[in-house]
Amino acid sequence: MKTAFIFACVVVLAVVGVCQGGDLRKNFYRTSCPSAEAIVKKITQRLLASNPGLPAALLRLHFHDCFVRGCDASVLIGSTANSKAEKDALPNLSLEGFDVIDEIKTEVENKCARKVSCADILALAARDAVSFQFQKPMWEVLTGRRDGKVSLSSEVLANIPSPFFNFSTLLTSFQSKGLTVHDLVVLSGAHTIGDGHCNLFSNRLYNFTGKGDQDPSLDPTYAAFLKTKCQSLSDRSTTVGMDPGSSTSFDASYFVNLKQKKGLFQSDAALLTDRISNKIVGELQKSTDFFKEFAQSMKRMGAIGVLTGNSGEIRKKCGVINS
Ligand code: HEM
Ligand SMILES: *[C@@H]1O[C@H](CO)[C@@H](O)[C@H](O)[C@H]1NC(C)=O
Ligand SMILES: *[C@@H]1O[C@H](CO)[C@@H](O)[C@H](O)[C@H]1NC(C)=O
Ligand SMILES: *[C@@H]1O[C@H](CO)[C@@H](O)[C@H](O)[C@H]1NC(C)=O
Repeated sequence: MKTAFIFACVVVLAVVGVCQGGDLRKNFYRTSCPSAEAIVKKITQRLLASNPGLPAALLRLHFHDCFVRGCDASVLIGSTANSKAEKDALPNLSLEGFDVIDEIKTEVENKCARKVSCADILALAARDAVSFQFQKPMWEVLTGRRDGKVSLSSEVLANIPSPFFNFSTLLTSFQSKGLTVHDLVVLSGAHTIGDGHCNLFSNRLYNFTGKGDQDPSLDPTYAAFLKTKCQSLSDRSTTVGMDPGSSTSFDASYFVNLKQKKGLFQSDAALLTDRISNKIVGELQKSTDFFKEFAQSMKRMGAIGVLTGNSGEIRKKCGVINS
């Protein structure tokens, strides 16, 4: 039976390069560490009080984790003398939240040593941070992920979509992770919270086609506002709220702004350039609808390429592969 599973896994591995586990489940830690989920929630909420940017940071960290080698906490591993890790790749731009995961992990280890994976902690903490605003879980997180033993900065560029992507390159990226056009649009709604650096969109303000021009698909009034924040093409340090007027609140306003041509990145604006995608943007204008869809798409994102069973390991420290 077990041999058959491992065999199936090896075949899958050969075909898609990852062992896709459909075997995450509810309450995986019920017997091995019953307080795990409560500890994650408690510490996340405590740290939130002094860090309002935490929901955005953790949500993005979870996304970056899942898109490179599956949701296996490979994004948390630190570089070593002979290996440059994912977190030090160029598209890491301001990934944050590592210290928070470490703090949660320490507490969880104190309660039940070597039982709870860093990948699950990250998935749970991202959910709990975003959910705090609502005082109820905004999506279900299945657990049972295990931690990967590999993290390579060289794999990030090919797996993390760029803010300069157009619709077809975005869709190809999401489809390569088993996600759909619907997931692409819905999950882009994560940009309802958090900030973006000027240099990732200022070409749209100052030099869109190399003629000192503006991106015609960007609302001119919004562009004028962005120019007051990002005063030149060389500004790489200023950040701007991605969801104008509502960037600390998790809601559907990203889609309302997007429809008004106020998406910050080209990759946001690109969602209006395809007929089907544009239609989905129109269907997500109300928070109740967005939340329902987001919960489903997050479940799918959280299952990308997960390691389960005996694959991988339970890391002792989230930043270090067990020796
Ligand atoms: C569709 C393709 C996507 C692209 C091209 C993209 C790109 C980006 C970029 C360039 C930033 C700003 C980084 C910076 O300037 O520091 C950003 C921020 C963010 N992204 Fe995405 N993203 C995508 C999808 C997602 C998904 C699927 C999620 C989560 C489900 C997500 C969650 C976030 C969050 C929460 C932030 C704000 C981070 C913070 O303020 O700390 N993004 N994204
Ligand atoms: C992101 O990568 C850059 C360049 O490799 C590195 O200097 C920086 O420390 C990294 N950021 C994080 C949060 O690790
Ligand atoms: C999207 O970008 C890719 C890669 O840069 C390019 O080959 C393709 O022609 C672009 N598609 C459209 C519709 O602009
Ligand atoms: C705008 O783009 C063009 C073409 O790439 C380049 O020659 C020019 O120097 C750019 N302008 C600025 C202000 O960077």
